[in-house]
Amino acid sequence: RGKKAFIAGVADDQGFGWAIAKALAEAGAEISLGVWVPALNIFESSLRRGKFDESRKLSNGSLMEFAHVYPMDAVFDTPEDVPEDIRSNKRYAAATGFTVSECAANVKADTGNIDILVHSLANGPEVTKPLLETSRKGYLAAMSASSYSFVAMLQRFGPLMNKGGASISLTYIASERIIPGYGGGMSSAKAALESDTRVLAFEAGRKYGIRVNTISAGPLGSRAAKAIGFIDDMIRYSYANAPVQKELEAREVGNVAAFLLSPLASAVTGSVIYADNGLNAMGLAV
Ligand code: NAI
Repeated sequence: RGKKAFIAGVADDQGFGWAIAKALAEAGAEISLGVWVPALNIFESSLRRGKFDESRKLSNGSLMEFAHVYPMDAVFDTPEDVPEDIRSNKRYAAATGFTVSECAANVKADTGNIDILVHSLANGPEVTKPLLETSRKGYLAAMSASSYSFVAMLQRFGPLMNKGGASISLTYIASERIIPGYGGGMSSAKAALESDTRVLAFEAGRKYGIRVNTISAGPLGSRAAKAIGFIDDMIRYSYANAPVQKELEAREVGNVAAFLLSPLASAVTGSVIYADNGLNAMGLAV
């Protein structure tokens, strides 16, 4: 039986979410996506118009298919949580069922139980501000979109995961080392995400028999990363200083995800796994 996967946080073919989808599709999984509501129209029209076809090519020559594409906004748990200004926003008005609980219910109705849950999303409205200048609102927004969103997803999708299933999120080393420029509470959000990975590995492990890990990825020039503003410097720094001297490809992170989400990693849970060309192990820039 092919495994069923739900991946939250894909809106183009440039980021880690897409690469994870592809690695899972190569391994024979059925893929459904949760796409952030404001990005959904452009994603679906690009998909329809063939803009992603080159990136959809699998090694057997076929194109990666998505079983279902759902609108999603991971900062809302239930319809009651959606404020009026969002509900009436023109990018949201046409979307239905985008809160985490509704999304899980729709996946359950369309697909039944799933085996794989992927959280590849983050958002920090004040990411370009140093932590010392971050507002309470900005900090809490970063935590809500980037950390609590994973708790919310496991709460709502956990009950529809098959025993032996697995989940992952994506994190960044700014949680444990000082990365000037990764601001707005995003470093705090990644620290929470990593701590939650351990606690949720225990709780969801006992409750649902599933595994929970996070991948600490090296720098990639995704859309989210470009919004931070210094991604090219990070890529250059990594190239110059990491033990493995090459640019990180999203595909390499996709492969680590496929491993962690497969039975090959059946004894791995509660872990932060680095996929960063080894940069985390360095103690001194060279
Ligand atoms: P990306 O832009 O491809 O993915 C981020 C996704 O989050 C986008 O598709 C966006 O639409 C979605 N999103 C934002 N707010 C949302 C919300 N409220 N509800 C649902 N979806 C929402 O960028 P990337 O870099 O692939 O990011 C994926 C993950 O990888 C993130 O957790 C990021 O922090 C992490 N990461 C990225 C690194 C990099 O250098 N690009 C390095 C280490 C970790």
